[in-house]
Amino acid sequence: MQRHNLVPQEELLKSTQAAKRLHDDILSRGLTFYIESYGCQMNDHDAEKLAGMLQSCGYQKATEKFEADLILFNTCCVREHAELRVFGNIGALKKLKDEKPQLMIGVCGCMMQQEDVAQKLFKRFPFVDLVFGTHELYRFPVLLEAALNGERTFSVTQIDGEIAEGLPVERNGRFQTNVTIMYGCDNFCSYCIVPYVRGRERSRASSDILGEIESLAQAGFKEITLLGQNVNSYRGDGGETSFAKLLCMANEVKGIERLRFMTSHPKDLSMELIHAMAECSKVCSHIHLPVQSGSDRILKRMNRGYTREKYLGLVNTLRENIKGIELTTDIIVGFPGETEEDFSDTLSLVREANFSAAYTFMYSPRNGTSAARMEEQIDKVVKKERLARLNELQAELLKKSNEKFLCMEGTVLVEGCDTRAVPMAYGKLENFKMVYFPGDETLLGQLKRVRITKTQSNSLFGEALE
Ligand code: 5AD
Ligand code: SF4
Repeated sequence: MQRHNLVPQEELLKSTQAAKRLHDDILSRGLTFYIESYGCQMNDHDAEKLAGMLQSCGYQKATEKFEADLILFNTCCVREHAELRVFGNIGALKKLKDEKPQLMIGVCGCMMQQEDVAQKLFKRFPFVDLVFGTHELYRFPVLLEAALNGERTFSVTQIDGEIAEGLPVERNGRFQTNVTIMYGCDNFCSYCIVPYVRGRERSRASSDILGEIESLAQAGFKEITLLGQNVNSYRGDGGETSFAKLLCMANEVKGIERLRFMTSHPKDLSMELIHAMAECSKVCSHIHLPVQSGSDRILKRMNRGYTREKYLGLVNTLRENIKGIELTTDIIVGFPGETEEDFSDTLSLVREANFSAAYTFMYSPRNGTSAARMEEQIDKVVKKERLARLNELQAELLKKSNEKFLCMEGTVLVEGCDTRAVPMAYGKLENFKMVYFPGDETLLGQLKRVRITKTQSNSLFGEALE
């Protein structure tokens, strides 16, 4: 059976051995680490792997960034804003490094996979000890060992298409967590840098994914989010396993109560998947389906592969087939050439689709992408003004649409508790809506039936039922 290339065992072994060599000394010195992660859930999950590898090297988690012996920036380059913040925050560490020369500073993640940017950063900040790209995440202990031995280390390669299985992971949550099902992206949306920094699309074998979910169930996790840049194009086991099939297999794992997934690309959302969502009892009634624009002209320039009509048709089909489903989306304003008319098409689509959340962004040109080379770049003032109008509309629609939840009953997976005044437990309904209700820490990790008693623009409030 054809499988995507796995990172060879002997390469993984080099990392395990480096971690072993470092472990006792680092542990006995009580050294600590702090990871500052930017960007999406994929990056957050990479940060959990980096933390897992650091623990295997003997480091413990620091509570405060400025007290840590090793600070690692896990960067993102999807939008300009995140990039500027990274440069600012690394620059601000110079003084600390002067005072504490043994402090190790590392930088990794998507932004470092752009070789020119990584070089620039390495030159500009001579106090940075270690830089590595996304394709070398699994080599972290080897690179760290070199840096600890005093070699300023820079390692960005273009080796692509491999999957590293079995890395240690230090998970942030106790009940809800993420499992990556595929890496990379082949879609080349014209604005997006992800295919350049995350490499070609490659799916993990279903047996590896299910094995991971089973061990998470045994460790007490109740909710799993399956992650990928475009989960709908998952093709596991040499193309034999579709995403819908994988979802149905995950639905059978004992101990797991809820399944979510993200992100879905509208062009690849199949009827097979919609039926699987309707039939699998653990799959939640929510889908994150980025639309990006409501204008056909702009969707074409974005290379999205669907029209406004096709998208709205999908929204209807999802609502007809999956009871109580809520949709969330991503939208970009100010894409090159976006006219006032194109933008008003986005506003009208938002009205028609009735999203329960929209993550909205001003277009930012990314080096190397085709949209960055397009003429008719939009003025920042216009982008800002459009973003404000879009957000205002979404907030107004949300306030109204939240009213439909009043008196509704649903199940919350309790993920936290706010003890400032009256103890309030909180967590998400199946449809991804956050609910607050009177309750304390004893409820953490439990699935509680609630009835909604009050709605606000962003949150719902409720009471627990027996
Ligand atoms: N400019 C603005 N937003 C972008 N996104 C991706 N690339 C860009 C860009 N160059 C947004 C898209 C995507 C989300 C993760 O980030 O909306 O769905
Ligand atoms: Fe970027 Fe498009 Fe791939 Fe999403 S589907 S990661 S927006 S190229």
